[in-house]
Amino acid sequence: MSLPNHLAIIMDGNGRWAQSLGKRRLFGHIKGVGRVREVVKTAAKLNISFLTLYAFSMENWMRPKEEVKLLMNLLIKFLKKETRELNRQNIRLQSIGDTSYLPEEAQTALALAIDSTKGNSGMVLTLALSYGSRQEITQAIRQIIIDHKNGGNSIEEIDEAFVNNYLQTAGMPDPDLIIRTSGEYRLSNFLLWQAAYAEIVIIEKAWPDFVAEDLVRALEEYSSRERRFGKTSAQVCEQSGQGDIRELN
Ligand code: IPE
Ligand code: IPE
Ligand code: MG
Repeated sequence: MSLPNHLAIIMDGNGRWAQSLGKRRLFGHIKGVGRVREVVKTAAKLNISFLTLYAFSMENWMRPKEEVKLLMNLLIKFLKKETRELNRQNIRLQSIGDTSYLPEEAQTALALAIDSTKGNSGMVLTLALSYGSRQEITQAIRQIIIDHKNGGNSIEEIDEAFVNNYLQTAGMPDPDLIIRTSGEYRLSNFLLWQAAYAEIVIIEKAWPDFVAEDLVRALEEYSSRERRFGKTSAQVCEQSGQGDIRELN
């Protein structure tokens, strides 16, 4: 079975899951944290190199104040509680997104967890927090122009790899597989540039119901896909067709 090098997950459906049980949305978020723990563990065991979890989008700041507050408190708790476990599993934590929006306590807990796990050599766990892909790309454009004005780069230099380096995911491979739970067929501002050739698997279950076996099933589905990257199936099967687009120039 061919596993993704970089797996990204849009953890969706906590609120509706709780509401369908007659409970408050918070209940779903609490359950959801448990699933994060399980999925991180499973992915690390499977030797996946990069796991990226969409935990809070830029647009999620528009949710009711109480829900945002509760989510932030859950984040703080998670970071404080899980750091030891991440170290035990040799996982390196990092984040993408504009974390300057996070409450100070969350920023501190995040910085501490990142620092504490920075020496780990196993799976890289990236939390997308206060993350929006359009904002990320906009920020990259700004920085490229600033650097250009300061004489740091020439326009001719700007190619895909160059742009990649200005994104928050610089140094990370593109996601090979994006899983979204709760049956929604959209990216919701997640890794838009990076997802150019990602395989997408939509799971009908809500995130609080997503267990290790669901992850394994999604990985099997991924493994059965033929990734053509614009080529023909015959070329892909030959495997000799290793050429890339730059050879055309
Ligand atoms: C995902 O579940 C968690 C976050 C976005 C923070 P939701 O809270 O979006 O749950 P639904 O989609 O409204 O059910
Ligand atoms: C995407 O879910 C963000 C996260 C899972 C963190 P949303 O629930 O915010 O997405 P929409 O609003 O349904 O597109
Ligand atoms: Mg949602």
